[in-house]
Amino acid sequence: MCGIVGYVGDRDASGVILDGLSRLEYRGYDSAGIAVSSGDKLIVKKKQGRLKNLQDYIDKNPIEGHVAIGHTRWATHGKPSDENSHPHSNATESISVVHNGIIENYIEIKKELIEKGYEFLSDTDTEVLAHLLDLYLEEDFFATIQKVLKKVKGSYGLGILNTKYPDTVFCARKDSPLVIGLGKDENFIASDVPALLKYTKDVYFLENGEIGIVKKDSVEVYDIEKNEIKKEMVTIEWSLEQATKAGYPHFMLKEINEQPEGIRETIKRRVDENNLIHFDDINLGKEELKAIKDIYIIACGTAYNAGLQGRFALQKIAKIKADADIASEFRYSDPFMDETTLVILVSQSGETLDTLAALREAKLKGAKTLAITNVIGSSIAREADNVIYTWAGPEIAVASTKAYTTQVVVFYMLSLYIAKLKEIITDEDYTTILNGLNEVPEKIEKIIAQEDKIKAIAEKIKDCTQGFYLGRGLDYSVATEASLKMKEVAYMHTEAFASGELKHGTIALIEDDIPVVAITTQSSLFEKSVSNIKEVKARGAYVISVTQENNKVVEEVSDEVIYIPETDDLIAGITAIVPLQLLAYHVSAMRGIDVDKPRNLAKSVTVE
Ligand code: F6R
Repeated sequence: MCGIVGYVGDRDASGVILDGLSRLEYRGYDSAGIAVSSGDKLIVKKKQGRLKNLQDYIDKNPIEGHVAIGHTRWATHGKPSDENSHPHSNATESISVVHNGIIENYIEIKKELIEKGYEFLSDTDTEVLAHLLDLYLEEDFFATIQKVLKKVKGSYGLGILNTKYPDTVFCARKDSPLVIGLGKDENFIASDVPALLKYTKDVYFLENGEIGIVKKDSVEVYDIEKNEIKKEMVTIEWSLEQATKAGYPHFMLKEINEQPEGIRETIKRRVDENNLIHFDDINLGKEELKAIKDIYIIACGTAYNAGLQGRFALQKIAKIKADADIASEFRYSDPFMDETTLVILVSQSGETLDTLAALREAKLKGAKTLAITNVIGSSIAREADNVIYTWAGPEIAVASTKAYTTQVVVFYMLSLYIAKLKEIITDEDYTTILNGLNEVPEKIEKIIAQEDKIKAIAEKIKDCTQGFYLGRGLDYSVATEASLKMKEVAYMHTEAFASGELKHGTIALIEDDIPVVAITTQSSLFEKSVSNIKEVKARGAYVISVTQENNKVVEEVSDEVIYIPETDDLIAGITAIVPLQLLAYHVSAMRGIDVDKPRNLAKSVTVE
């Protein structure tokens, strides 16, 4: 996790670093720090807690300098504290390092260094890098970096300053993202693009094993053996406006509201004016498809929940056997995979380590791999055989919303595309489902227009300590995601259950006034679902139903009903989640929680 920013140019470097870090705080907010090259010294300042603590300090004690690196931390090794914050430096403070990732063999290296007389000030794995750079120091600093990187195992995105090179930021990458931003008479490094957008949209994405030497007027990139690499410049399409709050109190609310736009864009990129879906670039033509016997959908958290809807779509529409699995479990279940398997990796950030590891495992076993991700040039996008991008725009709130719905939309487009290739769908069914998808953005807008009503429901349940989400079939997948949202942003303990499973144990937990959110969008399952609502209602539950507009009968068994506009059952899951994202958001805001940065979480989880 963690965020990195580096700058070299004519501006006030600490200003640029603090601004960049403010756009990366979602990556971690346990502490922040900065090292500025000032004259012949490095000035290092680190503060535990939110970035504001560092900002306030620097406002009062400005640091002059035009070259700097900075870091915002999500603790992995060592508790959040000033000492454990980055940058970490050698004893003379002539070398400073910011690091994203994990040095796996740091314990043995630390032992060696201690034996050689090095003193450690922190409990972090990163500090070994600073001392190793000191130990291996030679005239050519590149050679020093080479030696250190050959010695360490693990993952890193690195920014390094050395007083001997006061006009240079060194950087390196392995399994942790790093981009170099290209400006005029100034250049940048960052772990993520939003940190750079205010200054430039032109970037180089560093690949694994690459080392960058970044100066004000030049950028050189080498591999570990010092062969120069000609990088291709990529121009980012996101605007800074897209990556900032634009008047909303929180990113999460902004991003819920951006779903119609993100879905429109995601469809527009793949569907032409004749309603033909184009995935010509993903090597899944007729012949390749014939060879695919089954599909694994692999992801974590919300992306996994999107995969649950994806599995449903692939089985129902494309008639392919599909399983969804949690990335952190997948590798250890010794899954059977060969060249007849397609593994679909779903990841907003494209950097989630568990998902990346599953991708590598799938490739090792000869499976075909396809990534669905929101971040161009991310590790998962680059390593998978094929990629389908979602066009949700930057997602900043830790809780994923617009990435989820755009991921689900991609699964539906993919399922329709496969069904058409396999000639197993009638033109009529194809058109009905695709038209349904095209109408989703407008329907989400209608749901968002009910925000006041949802807010009033949030007011009623805001003090509850627990709750349940029920659904059958597709509605159960929606329930899992809705429950996760309430847990992570509102800290309310909730569980999602398949409605039919309730009477096999869980119903014992139902008591007076406990909120139960019942999702009943599926007409073929409607009566059975209503019976399940009656079961919890009879035991005192406070029932909040989410259903399609025509299902008025739900009013008789519910305390509150949120209607979603009528939709084909097959795709109702995409719209049904939206009121429940809003419900979680409002409960969180009413409880005074920092909605965009819930405790203990980070936006992209680049550790196992
Ligand atoms: C929850 C949430 C997480 C992520 C998960 C995977 O709202 O955002 O559960 O979905 O950490 O992240 P990505 O999609 O970046 O791989």
